[in-house]
Amino acid sequence: MAGRIVVLISGTGSNMEALVGACRRGDVPGEVVAVVADRDCMGLDIAAGFDIETVKLEPNDFSSRDEWNAVLRDKVAAFEPDLVVSAGFMRILAPSFVDAFEGRAINVHPSLLPAFSGAHAVRDALAAGVKETGTTVHFIDYDVDHGTIIAQERVEIAADDTVGSLHERIKEREHELLPRVCRDLLQGKVRLPR
Ligand code: GRF
Repeated sequence: MAGRIVVLISGTGSNMEALVGACRRGDVPGEVVAVVADRDCMGLDIAAGFDIETVKLEPNDFSSRDEWNAVLRDKVAAFEPDLVVSAGFMRILAPSFVDAFEGRAINVHPSLLPAFSGAHAVRDALAAGVKETGTTVHFIDYDVDHGTIIAQERVEIAADDTVGSLHERIKEREHELLPRVCRDLLQGKVRLPR
């Protein structure tokens, strides 16, 4: 039976799109059953175009952040996911969310963690003048961009790179790396160490 995957996004959703493609080609033994976003974004339209169920949960529509956290956790849990993939989701996940999906929630981040965690990883790597950066897929834990690293890919930085050009090349690697990690997780080849 195909593994059930829920993807969390906030933006263009190119990683989600790559993952859907990999699932539909049979490269990943899973199916993206829902895409959840915290705002209107291009990725939601793309998911709807794939006939995938979409959910939008804007924090401002809730009376408190705690309520939003609880609804997010419950909505995602209702899809009975084998895997929860945060791919460009620009919100910090509450401890209650992390606990609910421990060992089956992963995040993709555009740097070689632990270097350049945070929301401006590509810009920060460029500003630091490093020669290479990359992308990391890791288990989600209580700290941002912090959990056990599953896999990384390196990307060289060119002298004339801009944030846009560098991020595009990083995303090209992410689009291969993320489906590969999802495949390995769903096949039980990778597990959160205890
Ligand atoms: C990716 O680079 C991911 O690593 C980061 O946000 C970006 C999302 O891009 N967390 P997209 O929405 O998948 O195109």
